[in-house]
Amino acid sequence: MTGDEIVSLCRQHTLFEWSAQSKVDPIPVARAKGVHFWTPEGKRFIDFNSQLMCVNIGHGDDRVVRAIQEQAAVLPYANPFMATEPRARLGAKLAEIAPGDIDVFFFTNGGSEANENAIKLARLATGRHKILARYRSYHGATAGAMTLTGDPRRWANEPGISGVVHVLDPYHGIERGWESAEQSLAMLEEVIQLEGPHTIAGFILETVTGTNGVLVPPDGYMQGVRDLCTRYGILMICDEVMSGFGRTGEWFAINHWKVVPDILTMAKGLTSAYVPLGAVGLRRPLADHFKSNVFYGGLTYNSHPLACAAALATIRVYEEDKLVENARRMGTLMCTLMADLQHRHPSVGASRSIGLFGLIELIRNRETRQPLAPFNGTSEEMTALSRFFRDHGLYTFVRWNTFFTNPPLCVTEPELREAFGIIDEGLKITDRAVQ
Ligand SMILES: Cc1ncc(COP(=O)(O)O)c(C=O)c1O
Repeated sequence: MTGDEIVSLCRQHTLFEWSAQSKVDPIPVARAKGVHFWTPEGKRFIDFNSQLMCVNIGHGDDRVVRAIQEQAAVLPYANPFMATEPRARLGAKLAEIAPGDIDVFFFTNGGSEANENAIKLARLATGRHKILARYRSYHGATAGAMTLTGDPRRWANEPGISGVVHVLDPYHGIERGWESAEQSLAMLEEVIQLEGPHTIAGFILETVTGTNGVLVPPDGYMQGVRDLCTRYGILMICDEVMSGFGRTGEWFAINHWKVVPDILTMAKGLTSAYVPLGAVGLRRPLADHFKSNVFYGGLTYNSHPLACAAALATIRVYEEDKLVENARRMGTLMCTLMADLQHRHPSVGASRSIGLFGLIELIRNRETRQPLAPFNGTSEEMTALSRFFRDHGLYTFVRWNTFFTNPPLCVTEPELREAFGIIDEGLKITDRAVQ
């Protein structure tokens, strides 16, 4: 099929997410390899968002493809009451790479379900009902995960599940900036007191917030959250659906702060999205609670053999190709390239990155720091920038006044420099808007 035929039929018979359907303008994709993908007509794009921050190892890795094929030939499916070899091996492998004593896993189809089950496990284990979550967050689109989500995607889905309380995090937008870890932790403790610590089962937070701004917490914040959770018997739940699997230059982002959460959720990079899979990891003492207490949860595709085999092969690729180390190394270069853009382009108000997880915030005014598009909105200039990237073969996520720099972790220096060359040109458009 041609690109136009694919787009036309998709638009006619399928729903695109988070969009009014008359507004969608998808890129037709026929094939992909490494950090690139191509349209059916052969137009090449640099995938500077790893699709949805998930194809961490890069596209079309034969080792993972082969593992999926081999598993499909032997046992494509067994129900979740069975024990299979890929499930056994994946549980053991994750226990090896997950932080601290997180060594028991429940497998799901993706990140939303991982978070859904994380709060279920927290409620069952503590006998408490409330869950704290943050406003600047995305935790998924199923009912519970949507309620946990703090960003505007929640609004149209309200009312959600009961018992979710949102708190602010240390970042307050491009105009107000950051507060200190101490100030933010004091606010958090005040909310805990006001809600009643004995009623709170868990606090879920993205270790490094993803779509809401690549927000890297100030040092001391994660340690402080850990201390508050321990003091009040609240389970600390880190959502690493986006920040896990090398994205930040560590296996899991929480390792940067040497903290062990009680529950860790993951998906995306777990299989690099070759096959859908998510997981909830539990610390040993928490998992032990379910030795004599029933875990009231299940999914037909829990521990799906194809997905477990894909995850094992994906983790092997991270190890063989030293991709976590490469994310750290290329991340250092990306940080420099981003700082250089900020230095030279008046429309760049902030650049943030950790490993190969990056974002640039654009502004209209260097004194007031007015964002180039309003909260939850867009602007002529952001639309023009997005169009420029697309026309010049750079795919990335442009959202509100921000855009992302999240290449696959196999990216090389020349590829990184090529992408930043396109960004550099594109920012001339947004610079013209600066007053
Ligand atoms: C931090 C975070 N949590 C949860 C999710 C939901 O994952 P999924 O779309 O696989 O259900 C996402 C998806 O983008 C995410 O970024």
